[in-house]
Amino acid sequence: MGAAAPFCWMRREKISTMESSSFAVAIMAAGKGTRLKSKRPKVLHEVGGRALLLHVISAAETVAPAKEIFCIIGHEADRVRAAVEATGVQFVLQADQRGTGHALQVLKAEFELSGVPIPKHLLVLSGDVPLIRPETLAELTRFHLAEQAAMTILTAVPPDPTGYGRVLRIAPQSSEVSAIVEQKSLSTDQLNTPEINSGIYCFETAALFNRLDQLSTNNAHGEYYLTDVAGLLVADGQRVVAIQAESVDEVLGANTIAEMMHLDAFMRASTSRRLMSQGVTIFRPETCIIDSQVEVGADTVIEPFTQLLGSTRIGSDCRIRSYSVIQNSTLADDVTIRNGCILDGAEVSNAAVIGPYSHLRPESRIGEGAHVGNFCETKKTTLGRGAKANHLTYLGDASIGEGTNIGAGVITCNYDGVHKHVTHIGDRSFIGSDSTLVAPLTIGSGAYVAAGSCITQDVPDDALALGRAHQVTKEAWAARRRGSQPPAKKA
Ligand code: UD1
Ligand code: CA
Repeated sequence: MGAAAPFCWMRREKISTMESSSFAVAIMAAGKGTRLKSKRPKVLHEVGGRALLLHVISAAETVAPAKEIFCIIGHEADRVRAAVEATGVQFVLQADQRGTGHALQVLKAEFELSGVPIPKHLLVLSGDVPLIRPETLAELTRFHLAEQAAMTILTAVPPDPTGYGRVLRIAPQSSEVSAIVEQKSLSTDQLNTPEINSGIYCFETAALFNRLDQLSTNNAHGEYYLTDVAGLLVADGQRVVAIQAESVDEVLGANTIAEMMHLDAFMRASTSRRLMSQGVTIFRPETCIIDSQVEVGADTVIEPFTQLLGSTRIGSDCRIRSYSVIQNSTLADDVTIRNGCILDGAEVSNAAVIGPYSHLRPESRIGEGAHVGNFCETKKTTLGRGAKANHLTYLGDASIGEGTNIGAGVITCNYDGVHKHVTHIGDRSFIGSDSTLVAPLTIGSGAYVAAGSCITQDVPDDALALGRAHQVTKEAWAARRRGSQPPAKKA
């Protein structure tokens, strides 16, 4: 997206299919997030293990299809677009970020330029208000239509409203609003106004677009405030109403890292509650870090200080012991993960036992009932059903058959400094302790490798391979040595 092409519709031809009663969605996500003091754009900061903007897009998708969701991006636009474009939403570039009102001015200009009919109603979401629930958006859009309002503001009454814009109702019990006043513009009388603007609104799109040119930057931030549209509409006799969200927490914004972590804790607590309501036992859930997308089956037990991250899926009747970190991994049923394991991109089959202190790296596939034990590392390795690697082993780029036993300290030497090589081991073989298996290598089924071997050549089925020096034993050698030395001093 260059300066010469300020906007960018994607799949333009489909926009015109919008029904007149339906909503399009605009997500304001162009801001820098100066108050975060971070190099990362604000909307790509994560809560519950997922970028703020992805949470907001998921909520938006419950109101409109992706092609009718317009993401207004600006600060680090390419980075933001790359992070969310798989969702199929459309992007509009706000090259200079001159306020939330300006963000909507850019969207309006985009509609005019493209000649696409404007949607009848527009739901506007803030990219930094990620906890908003689909149920609340459904209620907001329903209320907006029922009230036949030009603008409907989603509000809340938090314990401390400081920092938020305040919503002034024409009378305490009235749904009608006279204006939104930003924190820095509040008069002394207005400072006690408890009801905050969530930054989430419905508009009759034409009413909004007709007022955007009247916004000014004559305010504390020198920005075009979208919130000023409320007063402009009221001045024109248009209906502006407000509806309070059921829970305060879902409309909390994240302007600082501390606020971000508050939302993160909130989201993780609700993820734990969701899993527990589905029959999962989580001991001391406040000590666990569980990302919002994680799924866990009933009767699985999660011990304290566990992390379940990314797209992790865990089956039923598993036990995840303390201090394990499981990321983007799939565990079937009855799996035991003992203390202190790290799993990343691993697949573990039914009734397998992992750990303590195992590291399963990407493309590790652990078969049914297999064991990977103390201080073992696997990478791009398949372990067959019932196979065992119980102690101090590295298995990389390997396939290991059913029932094979890998002794303590066995190492696949898979890397020659330039290339990676593969090791195949058949079924029911026995690899003696402390053997080094120099890949590329194939060891057949039912084969034995003697302990302490360095194996460089293939071993056929049912063979025994010894790859170690013969032992030399010198009788009485030690006694002779002692005899030739002066007697040891007494301590
Ligand atoms: C805004 C509201 C405030 C409300 C609060 C709720 C205004 C003027 N104020 O304040 O009443 O209580 O949200 O959280 O709207 N953005 C753009 N382009 C811009 C500027 C901002 O896309 O030029 C985006 C930001 O990326 C952000 C959202 O708009 O996702 C809100 O902007 P922000 O600067 O955080 O507004 P607040 O000060 O929080
Ligand atoms: Ca904000």
